Amino acid sequence: MRTRIVPVEVELVAQDASKASERGDVIIVIDVLRATTSIVTSLANGANSVIPVQTLEEALQLRKEHPDYVLVGERNGVKPRGFDFGNSPLSLNRKNVQNKNLVMATTNGTKALVQSKGSKWVIVGAFLNADAVAKKSVEIASNNEAGISFALSGEENHFDLEDLICAGAIIERLSRKVVELSDKTLGALLAFNGSKQNLQENIRKSKHAQALLKIGFDKDIEFACQLDLYNIVPFYQNGAIQISK
Ligand code: MLT
Repeated sequence: MRTRIVPVEVELVAQDASKASERGDVIIVIDVLRATTSIVTSLANGANSVIPVQTLEEALQLRKEHPDYVLVGERNGVKPRGFDFGNSPLSLNRKNVQNKNLVMATTNGTKALVQSKGSKWVIVGAFLNADAVAKKSVEIASNNEAGISFALSGEENHFDLEDLICAGAIIERLSRKVVELSDKTLGALLAFNGSKQNLQENIRKSKHAQALLKIGFDKDIEFACQLDLYNIVPFYQNGAIQISK
């Protein structure tokens, strides 16, 4: 049997996630500082599901309908009024999230997720689950004759360095499989390979990390830069993100 080569692409800004949807690709959404890191952490700590929404109003409305829902998110990096937790992955520990359904509203990350909604396979990726995401995405793509695309959330439709480097970490793990890398994908891989020896230090140079440092979220950056801490693959399906069974 001939082994199929899986094409891999990177869409650098959230609004281009629709291109990946049109190709029918397995989509890996990344907003490593901090939305996708926080989602992966919540689910690893036993949350039932995370429902991403685009606006604070949607989140507050959902809580009116479901008083047990936990509201998580940020505006300008900090917890919005009426929310339970900000977007720090460190606050999404087992005590706070186990067996709970979370509603998450962040500035860019949850928007990027909602924009990928129509796609068959939407996976939430971060440094924390890079290896698990690489393995699962290539398995799905191979079984379904699909490609793999990264949808980088970026900020207000500008590309973010840390998301590209995180895509590169997953691509490094994918490149051990039978995949074909586009030039943009190779760029992400080179960015990761060039920064991985001092990953945290290099991520801290990004504009978004600098903004988080200014408002005291130093520890979040340190936490987000850990590779392969969790062996989980969250899927976004039917409006909610859950770990695949
Ligand atoms: C976002 O979704 O825009 C980010 O995750 C913002 C942050 O919490 O740093």
